[in-house]
Amino acid sequence: METFIERLAQKSASGAETHGAASECHHEGGRLLVCPHIEALTPYQPGRPPEVLMRELGLKRFINLASNENPFGPPGSSLKAIKAAQGELSRYPESSGAKLRQALADKYNLWMENVAIGSGSESIISNIVRAFLHGDDEALTSAGTFIGFPVLIKAHGVNLRTVPLRNYRFDLEGIADAINHRTKIIYLCNPNNPTGTIFTKSEFENFMTKVPDRVLVIMDEAYHEFAGNAEEFPDSLQYRYDNLLTLRTFSKAYGLAGLRVGYGFGHDYLIGFINKIKLPFEPNHLAQVAATAALNDHKYLKRSIDNNRQGMKLLVEEFDRRGLEHVTSHANFILVETGDEERVKKIHEDMLRQGVAIRPLKAFGLPTCFRVTIGLPDENRAFIKALRKVL
Ligand SMILES: Cc1ncc(COP(=O)(O)O)c(C=O)c1O
Repeated sequence: METFIERLAQKSASGAETHGAASECHHEGGRLLVCPHIEALTPYQPGRPPEVLMRELGLKRFINLASNENPFGPPGSSLKAIKAAQGELSRYPESSGAKLRQALADKYNLWMENVAIGSGSESIISNIVRAFLHGDDEALTSAGTFIGFPVLIKAHGVNLRTVPLRNYRFDLEGIADAINHRTKIIYLCNPNNPTGTIFTKSEFENFMTKVPDRVLVIMDEAYHEFAGNAEEFPDSLQYRYDNLLTLRTFSKAYGLAGLRVGYGFGHDYLIGFINKIKLPFEPNHLAQVAATAALNDHKYLKRSIDNNRQGMKLLVEEFDRRGLEHVTSHANFILVETGDEERVKKIHEDMLRQGVAIRPLKAFGLPTCFRVTIGLPDENRAFIKALRKVL
């Protein structure tokens, strides 16, 4: 491995000056010591930034239907709250995030001590992993689920076991059967990203009877607002399991992905450990005030859900017309099964050239599928038009 000085020397061929001596770098066998599981880690690969794609492909308009974001932009109520809080930015936020946690506790009829917040729900997952997993402990989940979980587990250096999806759904019976004495955390995602499928109340209740009390169940409900009307959807806040943590986010139905705010609910015994190790001031002040405002913005939420329902219908009709196999979704995206990995690659590239980004699902372990997020009506129409051209 080249030294830092040598690396910078390549840059300074263009004029930059570097100081220091190469011999001051501490290497062993020519390499700095890094944990083997970090060295082996493949991080999550987000799509290329729209500006870059637009420049490269010479596009005038670019529609991102690859990341399950809210197409409406942030709620006006949040923007107003951010403006009002600007003068407070030289101060650290109140460290426990009491205002947002209390607002969430009030909404769901819990104590503030039952609520955790973080810089995105992914940050809370990261804190859970740090708080509860070590040594020979293992995590267990389904294949074909949210990719952030396996990445965080692998970054922590503990073992992850997965059970295959069954007909694009979490196989809760299979997961219960796979529990062993090392299993410490089970991650469930309902609705599941990227399939959009849900497991039912009775499946969930039956599953929980088989999970030992010493095993922590994470219920990731990042998309629950879109599934709320499905009669069989098990809203995990209706239950009071001592070993269950519910995670939700302001990134999807509340349109605040860029601010990074997530939240979690559970027994105060569990929440206490998460709060103990989270970074003291996360999420940042503007994120907290924006999320608190959004929480009461029922109009924005309703508009997001209504738009999603209508957009979903439009896309499903189009897929049916074209004979494209798709999976019934309870989220703000839909999975299409093409049956052919090369076909997915080609559709993805050709759609990009038409100015529409979709998500190929190879990294999720579903190489023959792609996922498309529901957009605004004109974005959905543009997607359909581009897809017709591409196919
Ligand atoms: C199932 C699921 N959980 C969590 C997240 C991350 O959410 P956040 O933005 O709150 O970190 C995502 C984002 O795509 C997701 O799909």
